Amino acid sequence: MLKIAVIAGDGIGPEVVREGLKVLEAVAAPTGLKYETTEFDWGGERWMKTGEVRPENALDILREFDVIYLGAVGHPEVPVGLVERQVLLDLRFGLDQYVNLRPIKLYPGVWTPIKNKGPEEIDFVVVRENTEDMYVGMGGWAHYGTPEEVATQVAVYTRKGTERIIRYAFELARARNKAKKLTVVDKSNVLTYGHDLWQRTFKEVGAEYPDIEQDGAYVDAACMWMVKNPEWFDVIVTTNLFGDIITDLGAMVQGGMGVAASGNINPEGVSMFEPIHGSAPKYTGQNKANPLAAISAMQMLLEHSGAREAAERVDKAIAGVLAAGKIADLSAGKCPPTSEVGDMIARAV
Ligand code: IPM
Ligand code: MN
Repeated sequence: MLKIAVIAGDGIGPEVVREGLKVLEAVAAPTGLKYETTEFDWGGERWMKTGEVRPENALDILREFDVIYLGAVGHPEVPVGLVERQVLLDLRFGLDQYVNLRPIKLYPGVWTPIKNKGPEEIDFVVVRENTEDMYVGMGGWAHYGTPEEVATQVAVYTRKGTERIIRYAFELARARNKAKKLTVVDKSNVLTYGHDLWQRTFKEVGAEYPDIEQDGAYVDAACMWMVKNPEWFDVIVTTNLFGDIITDLGAMVQGGMGVAASGNINPEGVSMFEPIHGSAPKYTGQNKANPLAAISAMQMLLEHSGAREAAERVDKAIAGVLAAGKIADLSAGKCPPTSEVGDMIARAV
């Protein structure tokens, strides 16, 4: 019995999660998958009603589950950063989900803004470190609000944290059936302490993987290559903040935020799957959001949970519906209604 905690979250979160669960239900029967879902109302709406985003013991509650399915966080009427920190980042950090896995894969039939590149060329995975860097929330102010104000935001990199993410990425490059290549993306030409640690760790761990081609790109150049020559990438490993930024670019390259999914993974613990897009408040409750990213996140959840056949069916269903041109425009408001996209995929699994 696969125990799934569902946090639909804010904005369009509940609408897209509903479609992901619809697809889960459709694929469970033919594949014999047994599962149960428990929904949690954590997020901005709950804060508006109770003054609390989530219960104190949220992490203890979640540790009882096999996996978490998350919609989106971010609410325009809640102080900025509050739900992001308490629902998303506290879970990533608290459950030590140190891998943020973000496949950049162009499905056949999907439009990409990159001229003369197709599914052959656009197929790589970004392994984003997920527990360190500027996301640790370390820093402070001196002379707050005065002309002499000083603000710091500390980028934290540990040997342990760097090593485990790089090792995970090497293993993924080995397991993937592509070029068997790993590219480390950093800014070691300027961040000569923290990213020097990344460089040294990459070389040391890399010595254990002579079968994997090893490459590096500074983050600015990596953005250029992602657009100019996306086929150069197979697996990318990068720091938390850079991974955040380049995967929005990656999402566009693969056809838009409407299709980009991610997994926050603790290989030994409870992992969490979510679309990369935000809560898109202006589309809330209008049945206009594209649920494909949430459905893809469900696909990743199933694969991670060992439900291989179910995962494969969902992947094929998405590919089939897209190849048939049934969703000509993937953007919110222009794609078919949210519930209809869910129906199409559910029928196709
Ligand atoms: C993401 C998001 C989050 C991040 C925000 C909502 C905190 O942008 O998952 O990419 O920065 O990690
Ligand atoms: Mn982001």
